[in-house]
Amino acid sequence: MDKFVIEGGRPLAGRVRCAGSKNAVLPVLAAALLTDEPLIVPNAPRVADVDTMLDVLRDLGCEAAREGSRVEVRAPSRPGERAGWENVRRMRGSVSVLGPLLGRLGRAEISQPGGCVIGVRPIDLHLKGMRALGAEVVIEHGDAVATAPPGGLRGAEMYLGSASGSTVLGTCNVMMAACLARGTTVIHGAACEPEVVDVGECLRKMGARLSGVGSPRIVIEGVERLGGTTHEVIPDRIEAGTFLLAGAMSGGEVRVDGCRPDHLTVLLERLGEARVPLRQGEDWIASLPYDPRDPATAPRPTDVTTLPFPGFPTDLQAQWMALMTLAGGMSLITEQIYPDRYMHVAELMRMGAQIRRQGTTSIVMGPTDLSGAQVMASDLRASAALVLAGLVARGRTEVHRVYHIDRGYERIEERLRALGAAIERTDDREPETLPEVEIPRPQPAARTSPAPSRSPAQR
Ligand code: EPU
Repeated sequence: MDKFVIEGGRPLAGRVRCAGSKNAVLPVLAAALLTDEPLIVPNAPRVADVDTMLDVLRDLGCEAAREGSRVEVRAPSRPGERAGWENVRRMRGSVSVLGPLLGRLGRAEISQPGGCVIGVRPIDLHLKGMRALGAEVVIEHGDAVATAPPGGLRGAEMYLGSASGSTVLGTCNVMMAACLARGTTVIHGAACEPEVVDVGECLRKMGARLSGVGSPRIVIEGVERLGGTTHEVIPDRIEAGTFLLAGAMSGGEVRVDGCRPDHLTVLLERLGEARVPLRQGEDWIASLPYDPRDPATAPRPTDVTTLPFPGFPTDLQAQWMALMTLAGGMSLITEQIYPDRYMHVAELMRMGAQIRRQGTTSIVMGPTDLSGAQVMASDLRASAALVLAGLVARGRTEVHRVYHIDRGYERIEERLRALGAAIERTDDREPETLPEVEIPRPQPAARTSPAPSRSPAQR
């Protein structure tokens, strides 16, 4: 298992090019199952989750090849029907083969994903959508087994909303199944994320008839068959946001090229409120030089609440928290998508951050002069937050279990090094648990400080 060793405090400066979107490419690759013609993605990010998706597709009988960022998948005329536990356990995104398999074959068996470190992640809305299209869905030995009625899936009207908004992969799954259903499907409460729009765009190129993608009401007219295509996926907005926040935390000029500022409107607006100097062009955003440690220019405490697009993305919540540890005062971070996505809190506190959690809200008291520590990565975005904190902390930070970060960021340490960071990947013979550290409490003098009696890690 690898770890990152970071010597903090080096100012970052330079340019970095944004990779293709991980969360768009996973369902796009699953769409290859809808046809026996090749589907080519020229800019697939070189991340572990894409390799896992290619393994899932190979297990289903597809030919799948990767050369650098170019990926080509060709499904057989009769793919396999089952995505088993081994693959779904490795990556929940594997669930996006459900819709294409059911649409094409009239049958699919998907191991039901369990909970994960970011919380309970059910697939009930995916299954509700398949049932609305006429499929019978039963749960057998942990698998969801879906069978289309005689004559195949039928277009239908359905609602895919939930208390936490809609579902990104669920919307993609239903869109993909409905493309080959008889008649018209209307999805109400559809997810509006740019990744859903991108999947819709790819399906259109394959011959699907969809409208309204990107709005909460999507209409799909079923067609007889779909063909292959070449589809360049959108830039990864979360990767772009992470690099931008790295620049903002270091106070250096970091320009992220090849991104879509219109996919990051809320982040840019929040950074503006936090007084972080920025510039942007049509396809780039740059943090500008300033002194994050000077009270006259340091980031201002700025609250965020994660919401479905175009709200603040849950996938940038941890990285935002790392920035807010530098802000002078109290900021509130509320997680509305995954209420328990706070594994990074205890690790940031190891680095000196003062954070208290109350329900779905975390209260960050800054500014903190972060100090390097041994920290444990727990999920993809939490790991990114720890790397950002390590880059500005005093001294040495070791981030263990960086395989989490490799799932979704392309060679992040090499690209950060090119910006001037002192970060190395080394082999890790990690301790099972990290040594106890004393977690600092808020200063009693700070009257607005929400002095915690217990740390989240102790609850
Ligand atoms: N939900 C349900 N029932 C369902 C599906 C979802 O209640 O059947 C709930 C979830 O529990 C959650 C909310 O709806 O509270 C949103 O979940 P969603 O289905 O939209 O998430 P997802 O499609 O499984 C994708 C990304 C996640 C990202 C979320 C939210 C992929 C591969 N994953 O997951 O990305 O956080 O949308 O935007 O596209 C990441 O990249 O680090 C990551 C976790």
